[in-house]
Amino acid sequence: MGDQELARIEEPRVREILKGDYDGRRVHIRGWLQNTRPSGGIVFLHVRDGSGVVQSTVRKGSVPDKVFEEFRSAGIESAVELEGIVKNDPRAPGGKELQVESGHVPYPAREEFPIAKKFHGPEFLLDNRHLYIRSDKMRAILQVRSKFLSAARKWFDTHGYTEVQVPTLITAAVEGGSTLFEVKYFEEKAYLTQSWQLYAEAMIASVGPIYTVAPSFRAEKSRTRRHLTEYWHVEAEAPWKGLDEIMRVEEELLSYAVAELRKESAPELRLFGRSEEDLQKIKPPFPRITYDKALEMIDEEKAGVKWGDDLGYEQEKLLTVHFDRPFFVTHYPKKAKAFYHKPDPKNPEVTLSADLLAPEGYGEITGGGERIAEYDALMQRIREEGMDPKSYEWYLDIRKFGSVPHAGFGLGLERTVAWICKLDHIRDAIAFPRLINRIYP
Ligand code: 4AD
Ligand code: MG
Repeated sequence: MGDQELARIEEPRVREILKGDYDGRRVHIRGWLQNTRPSGGIVFLHVRDGSGVVQSTVRKGSVPDKVFEEFRSAGIESAVELEGIVKNDPRAPGGKELQVESGHVPYPAREEFPIAKKFHGPEFLLDNRHLYIRSDKMRAILQVRSKFLSAARKWFDTHGYTEVQVPTLITAAVEGGSTLFEVKYFEEKAYLTQSWQLYAEAMIASVGPIYTVAPSFRAEKSRTRRHLTEYWHVEAEAPWKGLDEIMRVEEELLSYAVAELRKESAPELRLFGRSEEDLQKIKPPFPRITYDKALEMIDEEKAGVKWGDDLGYEQEKLLTVHFDRPFFVTHYPKKAKAFYHKPDPKNPEVTLSADLLAPEGYGEITGGGERIAEYDALMQRIREEGMDPKSYEWYLDIRKFGSVPHAGFGLGLERTVAWICKLDHIRDAIAFPRLINRIYP
């Protein structure tokens, strides 16, 4: 083939073929055999290239016998290269079929693919995670996750926020000592960070409003459907903002990202049964209730909490039945929140804090609020909590030089994706989950 001839053959991604008007056009595609079914003189191939799956047919007689045999004997997850004509065909999944005219199997599968169409238990699929991520379900989740993140970044970038990075190896707890991972740092003791929080508060005096997308670590000792030990954290911090202003940032950011997903990820969202109507409701302002009101709504006694306790998954689940969209719970007791939360001047037993809870039983997806800006007040809270001020020296130092009111929040990426995709476990919102009993593969 001459160069000119080669140049005429289009190499679209499968998603473009499925979406566009390709009827009668010749294309070249490369991908993996998601499924293969020989039926007499035809082999039906489902070819996946990361963007979608297209049915392709190889007919005996339309290709040399050797090529037909190569495709007929290729196992699932062999990598293939095909050229042929796209035909609109309502019988094919996705309504298009590629009628193969030439091709080959450059990387045949060496063994039978361990994940079959039959039911596999969750532990088996987690053991084979490196292969299971090729499934329709995981692929769709990973695409939604990526689109959500790029929408979030776009929102921040167009609202005056600068993206920054802070250390993962740190020396002092942010969110309390019980979920800290300790690591040996040469001769010293260090920890894996639970949040960017302390560094963020230092950086707003340098570059103003900021955000980050980074892993956070929690040595969660319980097995739940919403805790990972390593998760991705979208965090923002801004000077001159209070509780109300930071909640507005959260609701606008989330509404924007969901609107972008409706545009960009409609086929994936349909796969999870996430309807247009559900998503249309996600517009600011989100409902807001105080912690006190929340306890009333769930009936403290029946829910097994008393005033001052943090709300756990069970209590949040009871609350979410009252809402059909994300909602804020505000003014948590001092006791239920980390030391840096600003006590409410009107009632110092509660803090200027807010969690954003997702409906349908999902619960908390963000945590945040206003921070203590005054040196003495911060020192007092550190002492009250029995923490060592020495470990927080530099953090206290920020309060000595132009310390202004400021607020921020952290959004758990996997919790948010799990809710948007209606997943029943957080582990499927990330490619390689880290759980109390799992760090492989
Ligand atoms: O509520 P958290 O602990 O708040 C903070 O870390 C703040 N310093 C954030 C900030 O204000 N910058 O965590 C924030 C969010 C939670 O709402 C939840 O979505 C997620 O992080 N998260 C987890 N996600 C998965 N697995 C875990 N173990 C998580 N712990 C928290
Ligand atoms: Mg929280």
